[in-house]
Amino acid sequence: MRKHLITLDDLSKEQIISILEQGKAFKEILSRPIKKIPTLRGKTIGLLFFEPSTRTKLSFELAAKRMSADIVNFSASTSSLKKNESIKDTVMTLDAMKIDIYVVRHPSPGVPYIIADHIKGSVINAGDGAHSHPTQAILDLYTMWERFGSIKGLNVTIVGDVKYSRVVRSDISGLLKMGANITLCTPKTLLPRYVIDSRVRHTFDMKKAVKDADVIMGLRMQKERQDSGIIPDEVEYNHFFGLKSHLLEHASKDVMIMHPGPINRGIEIDGEVADSKNSVINEQVTNGLATRMSIFYHFVEN
Ligand code: CP
Repeated sequence: MRKHLITLDDLSKEQIISILEQGKAFKEILSRPIKKIPTLRGKTIGLLFFEPSTRTKLSFELAAKRMSADIVNFSASTSSLKKNESIKDTVMTLDAMKIDIYVVRHPSPGVPYIIADHIKGSVINAGDGAHSHPTQAILDLYTMWERFGSIKGLNVTIVGDVKYSRVVRSDISGLLKMGANITLCTPKTLLPRYVIDSRVRHTFDMKKAVKDADVIMGLRMQKERQDSGIIPDEVEYNHFFGLKSHLLEHASKDVMIMHPGPINRGIEIDGEVADSKNSVINEQVTNGLATRMSIFYHFVEN
């Protein structure tokens, strides 16, 4: 039966653990001189990116190549969408070419659901508007799980633009399933109603937010999705809510600094924190490749 991964709610805790464990096996394969395996030979992966991406697109593409799949790269800007073809007709055209898995990124929330209704293969959401980014959450969970052995009981502090972030929605869903303690620090104008959940702590004070944190995750200011007038200006935002090195002394020793990227240095995170020995931002990218291979492994139909 075909399966879709559109939000992290599509996965149970046991399924997440299975993806993490298989991801570890793929990470070991990726450390070998010959990194290619035949798992997806004969399968076709469609990469449908309607919005810019560096990390997600390239790691899905490389994951598919490492697993010997054929790849169809669809770029909205050079497609017949420019001649007013609808998304429905576009994906039905692709489906006529018998694609097995569609990896979809779109600026509008919900588009992966619409695509899933018109194709025969599986849909993996690579980020839809401010709604969901489940594969980013999986690689974030993997990075914590690999370091700490377990996510249960970890103190995870998330700072930045919560309201417009699809990553944080998926991360909160996954972290709650895995038993982490979550603290958010963001101005009131960037705090959405959906996180008013008794299981998620919120503070406006960065020192309190990072106290005893095992993990601190910064979130990008999602200017492309924000209404105007959300913050006074970026300098003031950085002063009160930026991730700065002096704050790390309040966190756990060896606190892990994460960020999904792309980062805005000097806005939500200072360069010296992003480049510090505590930062695992590039390790997250490495883990994204192994975990996306694991996601393909779990979602391909045989
Ligand atoms: N983290 C993330 O989704 O980055 P990209 O926009 O570069 O894919």
